[in-house]
Amino acid sequence: MTSVELRQKYLKFFQDRKHKIIPSASLVPDQTVELAPTQRVLFTTAGMHPLIPYLLGQSHPEGKRLVNVQKCLRTDDIDEVGDATHNTFFEMLGNWSLGDYWKEEAIFWSWEFLVKELKLDSKRIYVSVFAGDDDAPFDQESFDIWKKLGVRKDHIFKYGKKDNWWGPVGPSGPCGPDTEMFYDTEPSGKGPIDPSTNPRFVEIWNDVFMEYDKQTDGSYKPLIQKNVDTGMGLERMLAVLNDVPSGYETDIFLPLMKKIEDLAGAFNVKSTRIVADHIRSSVFLISDGVTPSNVERGYILRRLIRRSIRHASLLKIDADFLEDLSKIVVKTYGDFYPKLEEFQNSIVDELKGEEKKFKKALASGIRHFEKIQGDISGKAAFDLYQNYGFPIELTVELAAEQGKKVDIKKFESELKSHQNLSRSAQEKTKGGLAVQSAKAAKLHTATHLLHQALRDVLGNHVHQTGSHITDERLRFDFSHSEKMTQDQLNKTQGLVNSKIADNLKVNKKTLPKQAAQQVGAIGLFDEKYTDLVSIYYMGKSDKLEEAYSKEFCGGPHAENTGTLGEFKITKEESAGSGIRRIYAKITG
Ligand code: ALA
Repeated sequence: MTSVELRQKYLKFFQDRKHKIIPSASLVPDQTVELAPTQRVLFTTAGMHPLIPYLLGQSHPEGKRLVNVQKCLRTDDIDEVGDATHNTFFEMLGNWSLGDYWKEEAIFWSWEFLVKELKLDSKRIYVSVFAGDDDAPFDQESFDIWKKLGVRKDHIFKYGKKDNWWGPVGPSGPCGPDTEMFYDTEPSGKGPIDPSTNPRFVEIWNDVFMEYDKQTDGSYKPLIQKNVDTGMGLERMLAVLNDVPSGYETDIFLPLMKKIEDLAGAFNVKSTRIVADHIRSSVFLISDGVTPSNVERGYILRRLIRRSIRHASLLKIDADFLEDLSKIVVKTYGDFYPKLEEFQNSIVDELKGEEKKFKKALASGIRHFEKIQGDISGKAAFDLYQNYGFPIELTVELAAEQGKKVDIKKFESELKSHQNLSRSAQEKTKGGLAVQSAKAAKLHTATHLLHQALRDVLGNHVHQTGSHITDERLRFDFSHSEKMTQDQLNKTQGLVNSKIADNLKVNKKTLPKQAAQQVGAIGLFDEKYTDLVSIYYMGKSDKLEEAYSKEFCGGPHAENTGTLGEFKITKEESAGSGIRRIYAKITG
C-alpha cells in the first residue's frame, strides 16, 4: 500500500462515520490561539495540539467529529534517528471526538479499520490498557470492549502511566488514559510476548481518552467534556502494511534514499537515514515559514540542516546535494501538501544558503576539532560554535564518537556572556517549550500596526487571514485581491513608521467579545473566542476608544511602539486567491 492510499483510506473511513476532514495545521503552532504559556510549544508534535482549545471545551467550527493527517515534528529523540522507528518529522493520522462519542465507538472503529479496511491479521494484534493508579482507575471499560471484539485475554496488557497515559503536551492541559494497539511483526507469534518493550511489536495506533485536565500543581481535574484523541503514525503503519523493516523502505522515503545512495561514495545506513530524515524535516519547516537562525525554531532547523550536511560528508557526498534532495521531498509530498510546491523556490534558497555557509566551515572545523587533545572544554566548544558554526549538539556528537566529553555547562556560560542571552537556545528548546523572544514580541506589535495601516491605505475589506513571526521577520496574510502598487506600499510603510515614531503605548484590556467588537476591535477571531477576549490597543493615551490600533490577540507585545526601530516591507506577493502576503522587518 502506498502513503497516498493509506491517507485516503483513513480519511474516507472516518468521513463515512460522520467526521469532518480538517486540513493539517502548520508545524509552527498558531500564535494567535489563546493558550496557557505552558501549552505553547515550538512545534506541532501531535494531531491534537492545534485542537487544544476545543478539547478544553470551545466549540469547533467543523463540529464534534474530526479527522485529519497532521504534519508533526518531534526533536526530543533526534539522537535516535537512524534506527528503524524514530523520525523527527512524521505524519499522524488522527480522529477526534470533541465531547461526542466515547470508548465503545473509538475502539470499535480502530479495530474495524485495522482488521476490515487494512486487512491486518487480527491474531497478530496486541493491545494495552491503563492499569490504574492514584490519579485514575483501571480502564475496565476499554478492557471489556477489546474482549467483546474478540481480542484474546492474553493479548490485552495492562500498563501504568508510563505506557498507557497520554498528555498533556506541556506541564498542564488535556490528557488521559489511552489504549494502544501493537502489531507483531513475527508471523509465527513465537517467543517472548511483551508489546511495551520488544521492538518486534510495533505500536501502530493510540486511542487516548482525554477526560482530565492536568493542573500546574500536578493534580488532575475532570475536563468539562470527554474527548477521544487518536494517533496513528503513517510511516510505521506503512512499514507494517508493506512488511518492510522501517518507513525508509516505503514510498515515502525510497526515492530519497536511492538518490542519497547514488550520490554517496561510502555506505552507511545510519547516516543515509539521518540525511533523509533531516532533509525531509527541513523542507517542511521552511515551507511553514521557519528560516535557519541561532534561536528557537530557526536553531532547530539549522541543527537539522547542519547535521545532514555533516552526515552527507561522512557518506562522501561531495556535490551540493540539498537542492536535489529537497526537490525529491517536494515531489513526494507536493500533491498532498501544495505549500511545498508553492514555496519550492524559497526552500531551495534557504537550504543552499545554509549549505554555502556551513560546508566550508565544516571541513576546517573538523580539522580544528581533531587537533583538540582530550575532552572538549567549554571554551573549545564555543570556539567551534562561534568560528565554525558547529551547533553544540554536533560537537557533542563528534566527541561521543571518539569517546570524549564536552563541558556543556561552560559552553553555555561562554555563550551567555557573549550573546547576553538570558538562556541559551539549547535550554530554551528543551522539551519543546517556546519562549517568546523580545524581537518576536516587537514584530508582533509591528503586525498590529501593519494591519491597521493596510486598512487605512486599502480599505476596511482588509482582514488578517494569517500571520507568522520568526525572529527575523513578520509575515502577514490579508484579504485583498489586487497586487499592491508601489505607492500603496510606500504609504503603508510610512504610516507604520509614523506610528512607531509617535511612540504609542501598548495597552491590554480584557472585554466580553461583543463589547470588543462594538469598539471596533479587529483581528482573527471566530468561534474559538467565546466570552472574554483580550484586546491589545495602541494609542497616544490609555483610552481604548481613541486608540489607533485595537486588535484581539493573546500577546506578547512590546511595551511601546518606539522600541520597534525602522519598519520595512521586504516583499508583497499573492498567497492564494483574494489573499495577499507581506513580509516585513524591523530594526529594533
Ligand atoms: N495524541 C496521541 C499521540 O500522539 C494520540 O499518540
